[in-house]
Amino acid sequence: MAPVNLDRTVNVDDLRKLAKRRLPRLAYDFIEGGLEDERGVTRNESAFASFDLVPRYGIDVTAIDQSTMLFGRTFSGPLGIAPTGLAALFRPGADLMLAQTAKAANVPFIMSGASTALIEDLGRVAAEHGWYQLYVARDRGISEDMIRRVRDAGLSTLVITVDVPTNSKRERNLRNGFTRPIKPTLGAKLEALLHPAWMAEYLRTGTPMLSNWQRYAPPGASATEVAEFVAQQMPVPVLWRDIENFRRLWPGKLVVKGIMHPDDATSCAALGVDGIMVSNHGGRQLDKSPGAIEVLPAIAATVGEKMTVMFDSGIRRGSDAIVALCLGAKYVFVGRPTLYGAAAAGAAGVTRALEIFKDEIGRTMVQMGAPDIRSLGPQFLTWEPDDRRRNSSPMMMAMERSRRA
Ligand SMILES: Cc1cc2nc3c(=O)[nH]c(=O)nc-3n(C[C@H](O)[C@H](O)[C@H](O)COP(=O)(O)O)c2cc1C
Repeated sequence: MAPVNLDRTVNVDDLRKLAKRRLPRLAYDFIEGGLEDERGVTRNESAFASFDLVPRYGIDVTAIDQSTMLFGRTFSGPLGIAPTGLAALFRPGADLMLAQTAKAANVPFIMSGASTALIEDLGRVAAEHGWYQLYVARDRGISEDMIRRVRDAGLSTLVITVDVPTNSKRERNLRNGFTRPIKPTLGAKLEALLHPAWMAEYLRTGTPMLSNWQRYAPPGASATEVAEFVAQQMPVPVLWRDIENFRRLWPGKLVVKGIMHPDDATSCAALGVDGIMVSNHGGRQLDKSPGAIEVLPAIAATVGEKMTVMFDSGIRRGSDAIVALCLGAKYVFVGRPTLYGAAAAGAAGVTRALEIFKDEIGRTMVQMGAPDIRSLGPQFLTWEPDDRRRNSSPMMMAMERSRRA
């Protein structure tokens, strides 16, 4: 197969197309899909369209500065890599590849609770840039042990995902047999044969092992048996008392991921959580969820002074990242775009995805007259809520208050 020419990729969608070409449908659908009618995925992206950036001129933007402070560290830009499970299925070794690429670009990388690389190896290769995302286990003893391992690995930040209380109805996965463990349908297997480069790698490396869970499964369990064990342990609803307990156990920065309501953000602040990620899991959990960007203003207005508000879900352009930062996010993350890069061309593809965002963020800042990340704020925004009826909801009223403030 012809080598991938990344010079021709001018935006994230170009990387998506390359990823789609290389991956079998079973794997691509897992990255791309939402659930049910996939309204949530479209909504995340289209919601950005209702925010406009109003440019200002007469400001010296010859040398803009994208460096961003987060939890006491200076990163080279405001955009990092969100946790994505089973990444090795798209490119062998993807977890540590993403970690190393993030380190080289000096941005944070969050390793998924469903990764195939070990927490300990993340500590070895990228302790200063690697965070760990915990999927809470039914047996809370397992979660507590994982937290100890994250601490012993020298990682600074623990992310608890709360928006997966159950397996959502991802219809593409059901049709392909992308179950837990994966049992591909005959059609999905045959289709995979059309992707020989991927197939050769898969046969070489075998079924990805959820390595961080292996030690809790019965001794000698195969990758499939470990996946079966993990399917018994999670998903489970995470309770506020779990967050309280983890806060006691975890000395580092604690982030709760998947917050969509200001009152839940307030609960996190009351429990001593350091940061939240406003996110709807990239539209993968609740199809009727609002676009994550729509709830960000109300949440930032409620807890922005008390804790670090971060954001993901639907960012495909540097200008989307800028909108989120103007609406009160201190940092943003992407999930699918860096996976497209990894699937398309390995580490070079991930680097390319980060470069594309950096370039677009930089050009947008110059064009709108924002010399640095600190200068971004609601003064650059105008937006039209697309549905006037929702103006009477508490969420919209809080948004309106924050807009007027
Ligand atoms: C293939 C895939 C796997 C994911 N796995 C996880 C995961 O293991 N843990 C988690 O907290 N979020 C997971 N997410 C959600 C991402 O962390 C992030 O919230 C989402 O992708 C952001 O939306 P975006 O893809 O539009 O950028 C996953 C997303 C994708 C696309």
